[in-house]
Amino acid sequence: MTDIPILTIDGPSGSGKGTISLRVAQALGWHMLDSGALYRLVALGAMHHHLALDDAAALAEYALHLDTRFEVPEDGGEIQVYLEGRNVTRDLRTETTGNAASKVAAIQPVRAALLERQRNFAMPPGLVADGRDMGTTVFPEAKLKIFLTASVEERAKRRYKQLKEKGLGVSLRGLSEEIAERDTRDSQRSVSPLKPADDAVLVDTSDMTIDEVVQRVTQLCRQAFAK
Ligand code: DC
Repeated sequence: MTDIPILTIDGPSGSGKGTISLRVAQALGWHMLDSGALYRLVALGAMHHHLALDDAAALAEYALHLDTRFEVPEDGGEIQVYLEGRNVTRDLRTETTGNAASKVAAIQPVRAALLERQRNFAMPPGLVADGRDMGTTVFPEAKLKIFLTASVEERAKRRYKQLKEKGLGVSLRGLSEEIAERDTRDSQRSVSPLKPADDAVLVDTSDMTIDEVVQRVTQLCRQAFAK
């Protein structure tokens, strides 16, 4: 498709994808696509506009015309996300939005509506694409594909810590159950299920620190994208 270097990082929620993708994109000076945010935005917008989360046609139409903007702060802080002009950065990260996103993400016409928008993120000098089907469906030609995994327990602990730091109250056990449930839904759906691309490099992050994972991914990038 293009000769723009693309690194895809796929994996289940809580595998560390978001943090790792951002850190690697910053280290390489590349653009970043947080594809999960797009599904979250569709879910959030659908809830605002009272669209049913199983109304495929209405959701796909909404996804196609999604009015959103990502602002990268100059101080390297959290990316600010706007939906229809409103800052929704915080609402986007709640468990309610995540669960709704998982439902709309299982609808094929919604995925199709977001495909071109995702591909348009590929711009020089390169793109780090974070999601579930980046290596299998959206950027099958990517030169380096990484699939991050971690045990459900470890992922629940990480999520718990993250949400607590943001002042959002949740129970660890409830989170574990939700994560396991979402995994099943994401990996068993018929369209773009969560699974590693045949040519993906698997990295189990259960016993690794963020720095260790960033180091490993950067090392893989050096090998794959060496001139
Ligand atoms: O990564 P995340 O938790 O922000 O993703 C939210 C939901 O969207 C999650 O349930 C899986 C889904 N998703 C997807 O189906 N495909 C993607 N490329 C990214 C996310």
